[in-house]
Parts: sequence; C-alpha cells; structure tokens
Amino acid sequence: MEQEKLEVPASNTSQGRSIAYSRSTTRRMMEMLDGNLHGNVHGGVIMRMVDEAAAVVAMKHARHPVVTARVERFDFLAPAYIGNVVSIHCELNYVGRTSMEVGVEVVAEDLMTGETRRVASSQVIYVALDKKGKPTPVPPLIPADADEQARLERANLRRMRMRAIEEELAMIQHMASEV
Ligand SMILES: CC(C)(COP(=O)(O)OP(=O)(O)OC[C@H]1O[C@@H](n2cnc3c(N)ncnc32)[C@H](O)[C@@H]1OP(=O)(O)O)[C@@H](O)C(=O)NCCC(=O)NCCS
Repeated sequence: MEQEKLEVPASNTSQGRSIAYSRSTTRRMMEMLDGNLHGNVHGGVIMRMVDEAAAVVAMKHARHPVVTARVERFDFLAPAYIGNVVSIHCELNYVGRTSMEVGVEVVAEDLMTGETRRVASSQVIYVALDKKGKPTPVPPLIPADADEQARLERANLRRMRMRAIEEELAMIQHMASEV
C-alpha cells in the first residue's frame, strides 16, 4: 500500500504527541483478487486494509509494537469496486495509558470519472506492547490546535457513553444468568 508523506507541525514529543504527528493515509487500487463475481470488493479486504493502516498510526504514536484489542465500530456505507483506488484515512481519536483509539474513514475513487464515495468508517483500539509482550504506557495525546482539541473532546464523550452502555449490558447479562 502506498503511504502519503506527512507534513507534521512542530511539536514537543517529550511532552506528548499531536494527532497530526501520526495521521496517515494509505491507498491501493482494487484488483480482481479483491472482489467477488459482481465486481464488488469483499468487506474482509477493506477490513484488513483498515487494520493494517490504523496499526501504523498507533505504532507511530507509541513507537512500540501494537496489537488490535477491539474493533469498536465498522460501518460499511457504500460498495467499492474492482479498479477503484481505496484510500484509508486514519488518525488518533483518543489515547489512554497503554491503549489508543484510531478513527478511520475509507474512500473509494473511480479514476476514470474522479467520482469519490465514502465506503466505510471505523474505530479500532490498539494496545502498545513492551519487549515481553505486556501492555506498556504510550505518550499522551496533546492537541495541537482547536480542531484537535474538539476531536479529543468528542472522542472522550463517546468513550464515556460506550463505557456506560457496556456496564448496562454486563448488568443485563448478569441478571439473565441468575434467572
Ligand atoms: C489487548 C491485550 C494486550 C490486553 O491485555 P490485558 O492484560 O487485558 O491488558 P490490561 O487489562 O492491562 O489493559 C491494557 C489496556 O488495554 C485496554 N483493553 C484491553 N482489552 C480491551 C478491549 N477488548 N477493548 C478495548 N480496550 C481494551 C484496557 O482498557 C487498557 O487500556 P489503558 O491502559 O489505556 O487504560 C490482550 O488482551 C491481548 O493480547 N489480546 C489479543 C490481541 C491480539 O492478538 N490481536 C489480534 C492480532 S494483532
């Protein structure tokens, strides 16, 4: 996959890293082996590209190997076709102590017409590992500007809501197991 060169704003990486520091886009043209008989790209091909591209962002922020801990969401919004160029835009939404949430937007482009389509969006959580394969702390995410600040606030809010939903579901499951 081709990876775009990034313009990274100056930041003090000893204090933490901005979203822009690790932001990345990868692209690849969809080939016959990526698709089904109707010319649509398999969902699994897109999912693999997303996991690979988003892991690059997490590793770049952490400067450690990472593992995928969770695919928080994966929405397929429109089909991609053989011959389209699929671009995977990834940037960090949230950084915890050892975990990182990467937000992903997938766009397909018909190179003949220039038409672009948003085909998927996802949020994937990675955990950084040390040499022994144990979770290891990562640098904090320091917003570089108002846009980054707003993005972090939205992600924090969403994570708080997700946590509340998980607790509610765990309680329902617990109650069901007692019946
Ligand atoms: C992900 C993994 C390393 C976590 O290990 P663990 O011993 O549960 O780690 P901890 O409980 O100390 O949690 C570490 C961090 O991961 C987060 N985490 C762990 N499991 C998670 C999950 N399922 N979803 C979201 N976050 C998770 C924790 O919230 C914590 O975040 P924080 O440090 O930012 O607060 C471990 O479960 C694992 O190795 N899973 C398999 C990964 C894998 O093989 N992926 C596919 C191939 S890459």
